[in-house]
Amino acid sequence: MTNPREQVLETFRKRYNAEPTLLVRAPGRVNLIGEHTDYNDGFVLPLAIDRAVWIALRAREDSRVEIHSVEFNKTRSFNLDGFGKGEGWLEYLKGTAWALKGAGYDLEGWEGVSSSDVPRGSGLSSSAALELATARAFAAVSDLSWDALMMAKLAQKAENDWVGVSCGIMDQLASAAGREGHAILIDCRSLEIESVPLPEDTAVVVLNTAEQRGLVDSAYNKRREQCEEAARTFGVEALRDVSVERFGEKADKLEEVARKRARHVISENARTLQAVEVMRRGDAAALGKLMNESHISLRDDFEVSSDALDAMVECAWKAGCYGARMTGAGFGGCAVALVAQESVDAFTQEVAPCYKEKTGREAEIYLCRATEGAAVV
Ligand code: GLA
Repeated sequence: MTNPREQVLETFRKRYNAEPTLLVRAPGRVNLIGEHTDYNDGFVLPLAIDRAVWIALRAREDSRVEIHSVEFNKTRSFNLDGFGKGEGWLEYLKGTAWALKGAGYDLEGWEGVSSSDVPRGSGLSSSAALELATARAFAAVSDLSWDALMMAKLAQKAENDWVGVSCGIMDQLASAAGREGHAILIDCRSLEIESVPLPEDTAVVVLNTAEQRGLVDSAYNKRREQCEEAARTFGVEALRDVSVERFGEKADKLEEVARKRARHVISENARTLQAVEVMRRGDAAALGKLMNESHISLRDDFEVSSDALDAMVECAWKAGCYGARMTGAGFGGCAVALVAQESVDAFTQEVAPCYKEKTGREAEIYLCRATEGAAVV
């Protein structure tokens, strides 16, 4: 497959017999640590990756948005003056337009071609990338100033209130504000961002279980409710406000499920802050250990892993890495491993057959680079 950048440029030229005037890119993300903490006002540490949604486009004179998706080989359009809800990938564009308009932005029409190499439904935020690419396209043609945080919030609003998925802010903000060579620590309460350099001579390897995520929405919402309930028991606004010590004192007052859910979130917030500290020291081994603990907590306490994810992570642990864990919402999708640069080949050569033997499935393995967030290129 040619890369999506070339694809959108070539396809645009063929369809419109002209050069596009704008090319935008918005990356997917992988989360190093800090899972199921964003909607608890906690901390997350994702990186924007070198897999992205690309749109080549030009402004139109009218208020239509017309988009040809190379991946779906379909052309769809809507009018900014009046559009309702429908189904499928166009909803991410419509939802983003709706959120931008709702925030008072004046939007101009455009036409273009999109393509993506962020695998869909595997926990690498392909939908957030599409939302941010759309926002970037609108900002460029409508001459809006680009505020990454504001755009991430509006993209999240599109996902929550138009598409109907009640996600936190992590995916959209990672796609909007990623930093080359860095992970970003997001305080999901204050929305402050800090760039944290990846340890030298390490590689971030994404391990796709090729298991489509099942039951994500209902299980995700259930977890959110359980966390809110646990926060009420502690008499705080969000689990972010409960320290590890406080949890220890009160843990036996909680019923079992609430205790496990809360223990994950509270310990994961602590691990994420520790991860930042050890990264600042360039301590890959310590970071890896925290990633391993995160996986165990997600598997046993938060119960959002799956057999395939556990198999993949166990294979990664065996193949020799600093650390590995499931990443994203869970219930399938991807794991992430931190591997010494020099052992990447040996690592991937061992993980793939191990995973195949355990599950009968072919793993997809991507070596990821941390990139900048959504931009006109
Ligand atoms: C999904 C959501 C995010 C976050 C993760 C779990 O990716 O979109 O907001 O909650 O799950 O960490």
